[in-house]
Amino acid sequence: MPLIELENITFSYSPAEPPVLREVSLSVEAGECLALLGDNGAGKSTLFRILNGLSFPQKGSYRFDGAEITAALLKKQARAKRFHQRIGYLFQNPDVMLFSATVWDEIAFGPRQLGLSEAETEGRVRDCMALFGLEPLAEKAPYHLSGGQKKQVALAAVLALNPEVLILDEPLAGLDRKTGARLRELLTGLKQAGKTLLIATHEPALLEGLADRRIELTVEA
Ligand SMILES: Nc1ncnc2c1ncn2[C@@H]1O[C@H](COP(=O)(O)OP(=O)(O)OP(=O)(O)O)[C@@H](O)[C@H]1O
Ligand SMILES: [Mg+2]
Repeated sequence: MPLIELENITFSYSPAEPPVLREVSLSVEAGECLALLGDNGAGKSTLFRILNGLSFPQKGSYRFDGAEITAALLKKQARAKRFHQRIGYLFQNPDVMLFSATVWDEIAFGPRQLGLSEAETEGRVRDCMALFGLEPLAEKAPYHLSGGQKKQVALAAVLALNPEVLILDEPLAGLDRKTGARLRELLTGLKQAGKTLLIATHEPALLEGLADRRIELTVEA
């Protein structure tokens, strides 16, 4: 059984507008790395919102690990919590994600939500900060960081949850060359560890040797 299965989904943001996604089907097996490509406005971020249960298709179905993901299901707190624990989501715009007073708290938020002890949380925060050398920023307000630094903090916060699926929307955008190379290395390691990766990107170099499959969304004429 595929881990992620979209069947003929159609989605529009408003009934007055043509659908952004029309009859889209997609299956992703656990452990696969899928690249999502397509021009600006093709619907990559929209598809990711649906996979994360933030938007719901008007037609068709989305199953995650066999369970149909609907607005009604995600109203049940325990189910929603379990679902969101299994999928880590890096938004295209890190500003949407960062809300804590310090970088440390930002990265600690997820592990605390998972109910880890303060000692375990501290261990995870240290490990994830070390991935990008974020230690000097620990006490800074995420709000005051540079764009690339914000992206790194948002990535570290997602990784601190250690989810089995990572959905990354433009993870490379705004990162310098050295950090981009580090990210590629990290993603390769996560794939080897058996994580399922879905990555939307305009940078095909990121995907070489990493993506098992590439899917391109097209903008409707
Ligand atoms: N919240 C929203 N309300 C209304 N329309 C939206 C909303 N978000 C996106 N859209 C529209 O949906 C379409 C797809 O947008 P989406 O952000 O999914 O594209 P994308 O493939 O991620 O593009 P990019 O490469 O620029 O990130 C666009 O035409 C956009 O204007
Ligand atoms: Mg996008």
